[in-house]
Amino acid sequence: MKLSLNNNSKFLKAPSIRQFSNRMKDIKDCINLTIGQPDFPMPDVVKEAYINAIKENKTTYSHNKGLLETRTSVSNYFKHKYSFSYDPEEIIITNGASEALDTALRSIINPGDEIIIPGPVYAGYIPLIQTLGGIPIFIDTTETDFKLTPAAIESHINSKTKAILLNYPTNPTGVTLNYNEVKALSNALKDKEIFIISDEIYAENTFSGQHTSFGQFDELRDQLLIIGGLSKSHSATGIRIGFLIGPEYLIEKLTFMHAYNCICANVPAQIACIAALNEGLEAPQYMNEAYIERRDFLIDKLESLGFELEAKPEGAFYIFPSIKRFTDDDFAFCVDVLEKAHVAMVPGSSFTDIGKGYVRISYAYELDALKEGMRRLELYLSENYKLK
Ligand SMILES: Cc1ncc(COP(=O)(O)O)c(C=O)c1O
Repeated sequence: MKLSLNNNSKFLKAPSIRQFSNRMKDIKDCINLTIGQPDFPMPDVVKEAYINAIKENKTTYSHNKGLLETRTSVSNYFKHKYSFSYDPEEIIITNGASEALDTALRSIINPGDEIIIPGPVYAGYIPLIQTLGGIPIFIDTTETDFKLTPAAIESHINSKTKAILLNYPTNPTGVTLNYNEVKALSNALKDKEIFIISDEIYAENTFSGQHTSFGQFDELRDQLLIIGGLSKSHSATGIRIGFLIGPEYLIEKLTFMHAYNCICANVPAQIACIAALNEGLEAPQYMNEAYIERRDFLIDKLESLGFELEAKPEGAFYIFPSIKRFTDDDFAFCVDVLEKAHVAMVPGSSFTDIGKGYVRISYAYELDALKEGMRRLELYLSENYKLK
């Protein structure tokens, strides 16, 4: 007997990136450059806090929003680092940024609502919106260095727009915005009656100067939900700690959505979060030093191989070169490179059609792996395409 799931679940399918990773399984010596997960261990101080929490039996439920000490450390962190202030009551500790996104979207979308998203887009957003009957409206940023512009906001907002979903630094392009660019977007958004959801999960992986948060623009406060977490900053993808931050009038309601889903975030991980934010602040620094070295290597190498880089990545740990010089079919290209050269990259079209003709390479891999990957790619290109 096979029972029928509801209409929401029925249309869910494996992300196209999964179809691709399935093909990698049989290639034993594959250089895999697809994963969006830091290649460093979680810092010792965070590990110890996690282990001690369990030993000390801190394994019961917490307040739905999270432990007050954890929320206070998140509040202090943003106050000291980014000079904006949210009270601990305006912060929910979630099970990863993913749950923060889900809680936010489930709390605001009605069927038919439009959600504007600059693309190429992190694929995880789309099913969350569609299962609620929301309609993602993608803004093509390929002509503006993968950056959203105020003009593009104006031309995409209409009476059905419920929210805009932003992600700087961006997965998959690695592009981020400077202070003036965030300010310009804030000016364009501040009088619009829409929510702004700013997924800043890669905030700490900003390579030039400091990340600018939308939280720095007080005029957005009533509309803004900020999403963050430890997954990327502290190489802590498996302990599932995210933050959902916003004005109290919204956070009070969003807390119910979060609570009815999961009661609270993983409590030993919440305790580890206090250690990460109070004593583990050097972690993003040393990771960024390695990422910058790897990025610079990739930029030189990819350009020498004839790939075109439309924008230099300044954050996260991805690079998104165009392959249009070789072919427009990024999926076929990635499959061929995988099968012939044993190097795995993500086809750009996995991030909506806006990413067609590009590939995403993650450099959350050691330099030696990147060098070997590029050596194989060079050989592949010389055998299959005329190199410049
Ligand atoms: C843009 C973006 N947002 C959210 C997430 C999910 O983060 P988490 O592991 O904290 O749920 C990812 C993961 O890769 C991401 O790239």
